[in-house]
Amino acid sequence: MIDVSRRGFIGGVSALALGGCATAGGGRGASALPGNAPGGDAGKDGETLGRAASTRPPTSLLASEPCLQAPGPDTMGVVFALGGTANGFVDYGEKPDLSDACRVKCGGLRVTGWNDRVAQVRLTGLKSATKYYYRIGAWRISYKGGYAMKQLEEVLSPAIHSFVTAGEKAASHFCVMNDTHARWDAFTKVTDKVAELAPPVCIWNGDATNTTETIDEAIKVFLTPEQSPAYATDVPILFENGNHDFRGRFCALELDKVVMTRHPAERDSRFWDLPRNVAYRQGDVALIGLDTGEDKLDTNPAFAGLFNMKPYRELQTEWLKAQFKRPEIASAPYVVAFCHIPLFDANPKANPGDVAPADKDPRYTHDFALWQRTCAKMWGPVFAEHGVQLVIAAHDHEYRYDAPTADRPWAQIVGGGPDLDLTWDKKKVPAGRFATVIEGKVAGGKLQMTVHNVRTGKVAGQFAFSPRV
Ligand SMILES: [Fe+2]
Ligand SMILES: [Fe+2]
Repeated sequence: MIDVSRRGFIGGVSALALGGCATAGGGRGASALPGNAPGGDAGKDGETLGRAASTRPPTSLLASEPCLQAPGPDTMGVVFALGGTANGFVDYGEKPDLSDACRVKCGGLRVTGWNDRVAQVRLTGLKSATKYYYRIGAWRISYKGGYAMKQLEEVLSPAIHSFVTAGEKAASHFCVMNDTHARWDAFTKVTDKVAELAPPVCIWNGDATNTTETIDEAIKVFLTPEQSPAYATDVPILFENGNHDFRGRFCALELDKVVMTRHPAERDSRFWDLPRNVAYRQGDVALIGLDTGEDKLDTNPAFAGLFNMKPYRELQTEWLKAQFKRPEIASAPYVVAFCHIPLFDANPKANPGDVAPADKDPRYTHDFALWQRTCAKMWGPVFAEHGVQLVIAAHDHEYRYDAPTADRPWAQIVGGGPDLDLTWDKKKVPAGRFATVIEGKVAGGKLQMTVHNVRTGKVAGQFAFSPRV
């Protein structure tokens, strides 16, 4: 990670003329950036650990730090907020000074994705397990009609960041964060811990939001979080929806404008409507992301008949089975599945999410799902058949570990919530009520899982899993 805090903002306007890979399809182009381009003095890799400081001037066309999203073995999303009508772009290459860089514009083919809020750039055709350097930029666009468009200044970020693509030869290392709920104190502690651990990917296991009605709210949560504006410049987030990430008009209908979906090339056409399901190798670990959807039934009157989670979960079951036909998933020594709502709860009073028609039942303490029996019945047997060792869930705001049993051969770790109240140690509160970062790393021939309590800074739990193959 490059420490950009010691650099001042350099110019920000450049007249570089670039060609090459200027399409969303990526690939290497013929042109290269001049070595002395602004920000080109990337310095030594690994100068510092921890998050990069913000270098963004407050009035810049680049209105946020870059947020790496939807990572994979051959793809990476780069998303940032815009401070005016613009088309964003990313310069990337394997050399720290970007002297070999090519440029990819926001948006797809035909017309690029110019707009005045968010630039989403998808890099494709990348080499797996490879370190890339990148920086963001944008062209300010004046639009006064279909025949009156003008490209004005070009703004380049002075900061060069880096990432490492996934794949079988990549590091067997990942982190999981969850249920930050736009609580900035918790978000900062959680993302500080992730930066300290420096994994190649951080799974954001849902409930990033509460109820999000506008794009401004979503930008704040994902692109300009308070105190932590550079939380995902070097560690990509792999986002999976929580139930709250379907709530509010913007989240329900337009979240994809801020949080990139998976690259469509990753899935068969029959699964075209599963844009957030993901399965790929991070070293020896196959990471499989599933979406448990809302925590209330589609028939709950609170949802006005607008939600369609039942067939969504069913289609994911078919998708899940198909993943184990892929050689790189079938041969993975470790398989870790993650989803927001837990798939098991030993507490008989925990609502299992299938209490028709409206979730209310005197047998249960809550009128929403504390775990997802429907998904467990569909996905659990697939996990068992293929030797999935671990499910990582969230949602209950209370860390716990569920050891495997004869009937349920996979273990489950449930991450904590956004609670940081240190006085709780002296009160009668559930033992797992604290914010967590869950870390997985292969070492000594095992998958070692460590649950970090970011409220106290201590380790809350450690668990080891033997290879499945
Ligand atoms: Fe939550
Ligand atoms: Fe939740």
